[in-house]
Amino acid sequence: MERPRFHFTPEAGWLNDPNGFAYFDGEYHLFYQYEPDSLLGTGAGKHWGHAVSADLVGWTDLPVALAPDELGAIWSGCAVVDWRDTSGFFGGSPGLVALFTHWREGVQAQSLAHSADRGRTWTKYAGNPVIVAPELRVFRDPKVCWHAATGRWIMVVTIGQRARFYTSPNLRDWQEVGEFGQGYGSQSGVWECPDLFPLPVDGASGRERWVLLISVNGPGGSTMEYFVGDFDGWTFTSDNPAATVLPFDFGRDCYAAITWADLPPDDGRRLAIGWMSNWRYAHDLPTAPWRGALTLPRELVLQERPEGTRLIQRPVAELRELRGQTRQWPVQTIAPETALNPALTGEGVEIVVTFGNVAAREFGLKVRAGGGRGATVGYDTARQSVFIERGEEDNAGLARFGGRSEAPLALDGGQLTLHLFIDRCSIELFADGGAVVLTDLFFPADHGAIAPYCAAGTVELLALTTYDLAPPG
Ligand code: FRU
Repeated sequence: MERPRFHFTPEAGWLNDPNGFAYFDGEYHLFYQYEPDSLLGTGAGKHWGHAVSADLVGWTDLPVALAPDELGAIWSGCAVVDWRDTSGFFGGSPGLVALFTHWREGVQAQSLAHSADRGRTWTKYAGNPVIVAPELRVFRDPKVCWHAATGRWIMVVTIGQRARFYTSPNLRDWQEVGEFGQGYGSQSGVWECPDLFPLPVDGASGRERWVLLISVNGPGGSTMEYFVGDFDGWTFTSDNPAATVLPFDFGRDCYAAITWADLPPDDGRRLAIGWMSNWRYAHDLPTAPWRGALTLPRELVLQERPEGTRLIQRPVAELRELRGQTRQWPVQTIAPETALNPALTGEGVEIVVTFGNVAAREFGLKVRAGGGRGATVGYDTARQSVFIERGEEDNAGLARFGGRSEAPLALDGGQLTLHLFIDRCSIELFADGGAVVLTDLFFPADHGAIAPYCAAGTVELLALTTYDLAPPG
């Protein structure tokens, strides 16, 4: 499989979770779970790979930031800018502090490292690990933020199927203050890679809620959910009943997403990137000499909607820099045997499509279906759901890979608008203004046509605009 054109991949080696997102001195820092010399993704081999970007679109690879040491492998975590040198590592100046999980033979503990040279070199703290809990089997993935209301740092980590909170004045000494999650949300696997941050609620002036992101990994695969509620400096309280599950992404390949800390106040966005894979088959993906890619960067906002306060994801505006040729299609009727006129192809393409006058059981786009492979992005009229479907043998025989991921979605005034980013082996679908997102990998036989289809009946293609997406220059 050829390398994606506009998604981040390591030159060579294994990648899983994004880590250590920080924005400092004009650079977005991206760290990631990395095995430079292997495609195996073993627990003991994890390093932090590193790249920086000025615009979230073009990335410059930097040397490995953190390598395994006598305390173990370097598992997932975060980075913060210690503006006021609360840690005392930086002689009064600001600097970067990374907080991560040390993993050794299954035992997990939280540690830190610091960098006074814009993340180019890192020193592990001599007092590592800074938090231990040998009685816990899952105790990992620290995410830290500055909590202005109480004037101290807050850490969230996952412990089995719950999240635990710690506070610290200096990033080195931590005190346990609360837990959340017993019986809440999805309990279908272990909780991993939490993130906790406040967001203003769109359209409700002055209202702010806290969002808790959780990745859940179980026998059925890897999924993400979020909670909306309050955080008082000690613990999190959900606005919704315990049984409520709010999926972050309805597809199968968005996992371990976390957000950037410290964007300048005049920007103020909350931006996330996830790992574009799933532990169910991550080790088998047919790519070389790398294995693992990241999702596109997305802006997160909270919106007040009839069903409650919901997280909305939008592809970041910077992605427009990738746009090359723009094409628009005339309105046309799609019936089971009609072909799109003119045809649409492209190895990397952004699509905004609106269907209307729906008189069909199912309709949508067949994506690179040549040779009997590829994926279907569709709408099921009876189920009122939007979906991405990929076949098992369609995709290089990958076991546990086939099937359909779907999200409930009512037509809007009889119409359906989809915003898609299709790379060589991935589809990211944004619908309902970003309230519904599906991310799925697929491994087509070629980079052939993307064509509207319709099963049983007709549908009108009301608008189709496409942008060829070029790799960042
Ligand atoms: C999530 C995860 C984390 C862990 C990391 C190890 O994908 O399992 O919980 O820190 O991967 O690479």
